[in-house]
Amino acid sequence: MENNLESLKNREQNFKTLQWFGSHLELIDQRKLPTKEEFVRCFSCEDVALAIKEMVVRGAPAIGCAAAFGFVFCVREAICKVDPTEKKIVFSRKDIETIISLVKTKKERLLKSRPTAVNLAWAVSRLEFSFLKNIEKNHEELAHNVEREAIDLLSEDVKVNRLIGSFGNSLIPEKAKILTYCNAGALATAGYGTALGVVRSAHFAGKEIEVFASETRPFLQGARLTTWELLKDEIPVTLISDNMCGYLMNKKEIDVVVVGADRVAANGDVVNKIGTYTLSVLAKENRIPFFVACPLSTIDLSTDRGVDIVIEERCGSEVRGYDSQVWAPNEVRVSNPAFDITPHHNISALITEKGLISPVNSRNLINSI
Ligand code: MRU
Repeated sequence: MENNLESLKNREQNFKTLQWFGSHLELIDQRKLPTKEEFVRCFSCEDVALAIKEMVVRGAPAIGCAAAFGFVFCVREAICKVDPTEKKIVFSRKDIETIISLVKTKKERLLKSRPTAVNLAWAVSRLEFSFLKNIEKNHEELAHNVEREAIDLLSEDVKVNRLIGSFGNSLIPEKAKILTYCNAGALATAGYGTALGVVRSAHFAGKEIEVFASETRPFLQGARLTTWELLKDEIPVTLISDNMCGYLMNKKEIDVVVVGADRVAANGDVVNKIGTYTLSVLAKENRIPFFVACPLSTIDLSTDRGVDIVIEERCGSEVRGYDSQVWAPNEVRVSNPAFDITPHHNISALITEKGLISPVNSRNLINSI
């Protein structure tokens, strides 16, 4: 049994969150899951920005990967503007300046698509670095090297998540009941997941764990996405509504909480899906370890504290209903902050690809990067 599970650990994911086809980026449409498995194809920088904004693709690392390919389109579109006949020339100084300025304008569109997850800006600046490094090369080489960088970023994400998973596994007891929130899984990354990477590693190590997926109002990432991907991997999962978490923790039915992150400030405060803070308080009250699994690319040392991070406010219709279902009066005023701030002192450890950070404070964070 254990050997069987161990061999499953390294197999290919049975679905692809994002797939690059050279001419376009294909995204599984996360708004439609679990009822429909449909795909959206992006052929331009604008298509990618819209897919991020409208939550076709979501989850900090997946947003970063999508934005990387969005940047590839920015570069292609800019090159095409100055060299429409594709003569594949080495550009003149004037052409280079035009390309840089076009890319700069287009990249702003990507950066504005969602403000909170730092992986978006991280991926765009990594791609921009590669773009500027290759700007003196000819048309073909420039486009090729920027594309290569995005492909590398995508495959590195899966490797990073597997490392997070194996470090996190050391924190998970046999037969643990693990509470998770939102979706920090393969759907939120290029594959394997961060919080669900820890779950996967513990499961594939034969620990007989059970996951409690909290539904995650209002966008229901826990109910729709986390349960869908865990069922696909045959990992035992029980769905609960958000208001059941405290009761279960208090009854000692949860051993450990593992969540993901959208941005970690320099002092260790974590911004993650709205409701994460509440869970951290409940975990502290009930003396349950509370872990945050995240790649180093989610740590933003340029932001001092969680309160300095811009929290995205989303449309009120997401709280009034979901899809075609509406359960509140259309005219009711709605507040819809998409994320909240968990203070660093509520977090037992950060789980990164380089190991554990605990206690979570600025000194340990700086030393770990
Ligand atoms: O609004 P979303 O669905 O993009 O929010 C996602 C989360 O909050 C995740 O927990 C976070 O991005 C980590 S994903 C590995």
